[in-house]
Amino acid sequence: CGIVGYVGPRDVIPVLTNGLEKLEYRGYDSAGVAYVQDGKMKVVKTKGRLQNLRDKLGDASQENTIGIGHTRWATHGEPSDINSHPHTNVSGSLAVVHNGIIENFLKLKEWLQEKGVHFVSETDTEVVAHLVNYYYEGDLKTAVMKAVKMLEGSYALGVITVKEPDRIVAVRKDSPLIVGIGKGENLIASDVPAILEYTRDVYFLDDNEVAVIKKDEIQIYDAYGARTTKEAVTIDWDVTQAEKAGYEHFMIKEINEQPKALADTLFPRIHDGKIDLTDAGFSDDMIEGIRKIYIVACGTASYAAQVGKYVIERLARVSVEVDAGSEFRYRNPVLEPDMLVIVISQSGETADTIAALREAKKRGLKVIAITNVVGSTLSREADAVFYTRAGMEIAVASTKAYITQLLALYMIAMEVGRIKGKLADEEYARLLKELERVPELSKEPMEKKKDLQKLASQRYMDQHAFYIGRGLDYAVAMEGTMKIKEVSYIHAEAFSAGELKHGTIALIEKNTLVVALATQADLLEKMMSNIKEVKARGGYVFAIVQERDAATVADQVDQVFTIPNVEDLFAPMLSVIPLQMLGYYAAVSKGCDVDKPRNLAKSVTVE
Ligand code: G6P
Repeated sequence: CGIVGYVGPRDVIPVLTNGLEKLEYRGYDSAGVAYVQDGKMKVVKTKGRLQNLRDKLGDASQENTIGIGHTRWATHGEPSDINSHPHTNVSGSLAVVHNGIIENFLKLKEWLQEKGVHFVSETDTEVVAHLVNYYYEGDLKTAVMKAVKMLEGSYALGVITVKEPDRIVAVRKDSPLIVGIGKGENLIASDVPAILEYTRDVYFLDDNEVAVIKKDEIQIYDAYGARTTKEAVTIDWDVTQAEKAGYEHFMIKEINEQPKALADTLFPRIHDGKIDLTDAGFSDDMIEGIRKIYIVACGTASYAAQVGKYVIERLARVSVEVDAGSEFRYRNPVLEPDMLVIVISQSGETADTIAALREAKKRGLKVIAITNVVGSTLSREADAVFYTRAGMEIAVASTKAYITQLLALYMIAMEVGRIKGKLADEEYARLLKELERVPELSKEPMEKKKDLQKLASQRYMDQHAFYIGRGLDYAVAMEGTMKIKEVSYIHAEAFSAGELKHGTIALIEKNTLVVALATQADLLEKMMSNIKEVKARGGYVFAIVQERDAATVADQVDQVFTIPNVEDLFAPMLSVIPLQMLGYYAAVSKGCDVDKPRNLAKSVTVE
């Protein structure tokens, strides 16, 4: 869900609704705004899309005021007008927007009800509005600080009151919140895109910090109420990245931006024929001390980790364990001081991944974050950061961020391999040369979009699909199924091709779609046997191979898609592209809301 707030001379309505539009990609089921007009709090909110809110707002407008807006992704209470944010106190003088979950809200609700407070919604957020009102004695900041002391859970809050119509009070804990620094106007938001139109300079609030934002002044206080100073961060993302630039959807735009994302992530880190990872916290000493690596991530980033495991083990001979953020924290993993933990997250705000990072740090381990967002929570809490340079990713389904996560892991694998003496200099040099070709090669799959459009138009009504591969191809297959599941709602499963015969093959019927990845020379023969097993049961096989193998495979399968010839190890950065496109075109054929798939949010800041 998203938060935006504004104080300044402009008409507040379009600033709020446009800001919320920029956060639409995060997923939501209702939206609302609150602003002060003629000394009164106006609250307009509704279930459904932002357009519903715009319709409800009609020609409302108000300059020189304060306002807060919210898009909600339901956690407590179903999506409805009443449960939408902003929430107010009983008299409606005060309004609150909230991201996160207040875990002790029921207790607080009972406590307030005993004092005669009447609740109208089922949400945890309404408690905050009443609580701030309960403590209000003429100073909003003090009231908010008293209220948050009572809260357990996670929150990013924006609060306004008609009694002090010159300020927004903002506070966060375990949920992102930034302050946008303008000229004669200031903003708050849960995410950078919401405010980029007005400013690139931001403060990333830390946990428990409280900000009082007026149009020409921003005051920041620590949890004890003492003034603190913060360093502003300048965001180098381009505003145009938040626009579709002629593409029908952000997802396909971002798929097409992958060659650039790869180039931007790779080339600035190559110096004198070597990969330079010093800015990401890798030194010779540190690498020599690593005995084992844990990679922890969620969703697509966790599938990047699966590729990373394979590559790091192969090139650096260091054993790698991959865990989902939500599992790592609660299963008491065996952690030793000579292990390195790598967390991967596009947004740097995924609650499960942050929790894993904190757990690892608590147990004394060094944590390196691979993230795409400068200033994100993960980037601030990790010991060092490898920034992927994919640029702003808007579509919920991750594409260009995933591919740069792969690249980051390749670069780490090569460096660890080199320093540990597992990768000879000549082999390292050969691989690096080959890696430098990948950004250019990655343009080719996009040129063959017709093949994927055609397959998608034939198969978009399928109920099930199976993606198979061995080794690295299996790891990529996992991400491929994630793409088609997320955006086109086709149930797809990835299997290691060798495992197929041990049970899953029972599911293969006449015409079942099987996407077979066979990009690895040393496994090609074995893959061909698995493909024959599928064909023998009547499955429809769509194979993805390197150009060099097209002729060998063509007459054994129903359709072949070729990626350009490349070092086998690097094939995932090319073979995933047709899988992303297949997911995309299937969703388009089916008429799905590609950039905002049902039930999903771009970044999940609750556990
Ligand atoms: C959400 C998104 C996924 C994403 C995952 C991890 O669940 O829907 O597409 O892969 O979060 O996001 P992160 O920002 O941590 O990479």
